[in-house]
Amino acid sequence: MAASTDNAVVIRAPLQLVWDMTNDIESWTWLYTEYAAAEILHREGDTVRFRLSMHPDADGTVWSWVSERTADPETRTVRARRVEPGPFEHMDIRWEYTEVETGTRMRWRQDFAMKPTAPLDDAAMAQRINTNSAIQMARIQALVEQAAADAGQDRPAAPPDDATQPPDHASQPPQEQVFTLLAGKWTAQAVSALARLGIADLLADGPRTPEELAAATGTHAQSLHRVLRAAALVHVFTERPDGTFALTPQAETLRTGVPGSMRAFAALIGDDATWRPYGDILETIRTGEPAFDRVHGATVYEYFARHPETGAVFDEAMTALSEESAGAYLGSYDFGRFARVADIGGGRGQMLAEILRLNPGARGLLLERPDVVEQAQPLLRKHGVADRVEVVAGDFFTEVPPGADAYVLKTVLHNWNDADALRILRNVRAAVGDDRDARLLVLEDVIQPLNAWDVGKLIDIDMLVNVGGRGRTREDWERLFTAAGFTLRLPEGAAAWSVLEGIPA
Ligand SMILES: C[S@@+](CC[C@H](N)C(=O)[O-])C[C@H]1O[C@@H](n2cnc3c(N)ncnc32)[C@H](O)[C@@H]1O
Repeated sequence: MAASTDNAVVIRAPLQLVWDMTNDIESWTWLYTEYAAAEILHREGDTVRFRLSMHPDADGTVWSWVSERTADPETRTVRARRVEPGPFEHMDIRWEYTEVETGTRMRWRQDFAMKPTAPLDDAAMAQRINTNSAIQMARIQALVEQAAADAGQDRPAAPPDDATQPPDHASQPPQEQVFTLLAGKWTAQAVSALARLGIADLLADGPRTPEELAAATGTHAQSLHRVLRAAALVHVFTERPDGTFALTPQAETLRTGVPGSMRAFAALIGDDATWRPYGDILETIRTGEPAFDRVHGATVYEYFARHPETGAVFDEAMTALSEESAGAYLGSYDFGRFARVADIGGGRGQMLAEILRLNPGARGLLLERPDVVEQAQPLLRKHGVADRVEVVAGDFFTEVPPGADAYVLKTVLHNWNDADALRILRNVRAAVGDDRDARLLVLEDVIQPLNAWDVGKLIDIDMLVNVGGRGRTREDWERLFTAAGFTLRLPEGAAAWSVLEGIPA
């Protein structure tokens, strides 16, 4: 039998520094938490033979062995093997260093087999290596990044897509993978709480200690430290050897006002009102009824009307997400041909403002619930389109104003079951009347078949639990459009998040 593990980390430092520090075997007692001694036995060219000794284990045993490694600076790879394999039949390690936009990716692939007499079998050793690699890589990352910062060589924060990769856990045993998954409950709340406290803003000018952050946020220093430390495991903030915490690319996204800021969405995810219904998800699965209504005695929008502070958290999150997604919609459909665009349930008007900014001759109409429209004017003014927008406080179940040549419904219909969605669409159809050139534009997810990745499948859970709506497949959309008097036009192979065009039938 044989086994292998594959772990990687992205270090925000230049490749040469990562290479030099991690190939300096004499410093491994400092660079790793596990080694008590690292003694060079022989050097020849790029090959070095050395003895590593670990700190005593729980039984007082000191494990020690001889290894040999050959570093190739041309290919930035290292081949290593245990010369004294001890409990292993063999243990070969390949290190790879590659430059990525955010710094340097360091990868360890270990191929090994345990002796039949060894205390651990292959699977148990793989588990141990994966757990330990995550610990060691995090320490190496912190030390090298600190060295880079001290030398003024650290890289600028990168966009979230290129964010530091967590170690690859795919080779972990299934139980461990599921545990990590379920621990998402804890990390989600930790990250949301840190977002609500504004920790990322406080770190914008550089690392700070938990005590300083606690003083600035009026929180309990030790508790804040524990929450930060857990969030650092999922790469939101990083703990440094000097005891301070710093931003990571992921943590950068929790700053207020940065492009694509996730702070408002993080606040919404952890908000008590939308969080508590998840405790009642089983009853929702049994009955199909949203847990939110049972827990709060009101539908989500009734609740927002009664609790404006929670409504504002929601509206802010929707605005931020619209800011993020608008570009993709604008790039995939020509909104420029419409002279009058109505955004129905348009929130504070972010998407409408983006459409009107691209299309200086067009006018807009924003229909929203009364408590939301109050917040629309500042946003429309900020984008310089307020004088072109008629803001209407209303109810799309009662009436949709006529006279527009495009009716936008962006992530509105997934809030509603089919019967309610149909009522809204029929009101749009009534507003369109005989104008065959007018268009219904639904900006939403088309749920992808089988196991294809689609974040809409996750958002659909929130629709189920908190809102009572649903995500829809292409066939679902076709049925709904037809029933409302529209013909759906959606190119084959359109992206999951698309502009679904409705032509009056
Ligand atoms: C999921 S949000 C989407 C907001 C916006 N279109 C966006 O994409 O950012 C759904 C919107 O529908 C609005 N809404 C809910 N019920 C409504 C009603 N009866 N009439 C008008 N708007 C309503 C909510 O206030 C909310 O802003």
